[in-house]
Amino acid sequence: MKKNLFIVLLISMVAILAACGANPSNESQEPTNGSTGETSEPATPEEQTKLVVGTDAAFAPFESLDGEDIVGFDVDLLDAVMEEAGLEYELNNIGWDPIFLSLKDGSIDLAISGITVTEERDQEYDFTRPYFESTHMIAFYEGTDIESANDLEGKIIGVQTATTGQIAAEAIVGELNPNLQLFETTALAFASLKEGNVEAVVTDIAVAAEFVKNNPEDNVKLVSDPENFEAEYYGMMVPEGSELKETLDKALTTIIDNGKYAEIYEKWFGSTPNLETLLEQE
Ligand code: ARG
Repeated sequence: MKKNLFIVLLISMVAILAACGANPSNESQEPTNGSTGETSEPATPEEQTKLVVGTDAAFAPFESLDGEDIVGFDVDLLDAVMEEAGLEYELNNIGWDPIFLSLKDGSIDLAISGITVTEERDQEYDFTRPYFESTHMIAFYEGTDIESANDLEGKIIGVQTATTGQIAAEAIVGELNPNLQLFETTALAFASLKEGNVEAVVTDIAVAAEFVKNNPEDNVKLVSDPENFEAEYYGMMVPEGSELKETLDKALTTIIDNGKYAEIYEKWFGSTPNLETLLEQE
């Protein structure tokens, strides 16, 4: 009896759907008329080939905002690589965490953002050949007693969340240490240091040096610690299996070989890059 009722219900539902002309799977493919067709117009070939690049522009001198513009070493490097590869692109400031999500959901094609190639990330994404060697530094104000990474113990430390700086600090003071404060951007961690809310910031060497440079009036001290903070390398990050990797690698190698890379490096860091070390890292 119950079964019969179910079949009757099912038949009438199908009849109603048919009468309404509802056909969800075909609906979206129906041609729209001229007046409402705007949003579904196919992209022009130019739009189709324009790559979308994501970054977190609060990480000078690699990427930061100058008014509306994103500027920095990464920005110039990206431009040179794209020009060499003959690719059109747009660079968007989307924030750090969204970089990782957006590469997964396909809303960006690649990311450049001082991203360290780590084993963990390498399992989920692909990286180009390394383009920059980095390590960590501790930045703090004169008067705070820090001589090595071990002195971070007991200090209020600021790091950008989900960065290798967080991992480096956690390796010293332990995960979930209440003294470890996580900031959405490295710029915010530095702002907190300036306000005296954290006593030290652990971040990438060139970014710490840039903070000192931009705050000449402040008595900022920097400490590196090769025993605790290892060398690490930045790469451009693409979705796993992306064909872009090969194209970008080729272009990167060309601009390293033809001197363009060194030119950009000197512009931002005022010194010649150690290309040998860089080229050793494949
Ligand atoms: N190199 C560090 C990492 O990959 C920090 C990078 C942060 N970059 C940025 N644009 N905020 O974890």
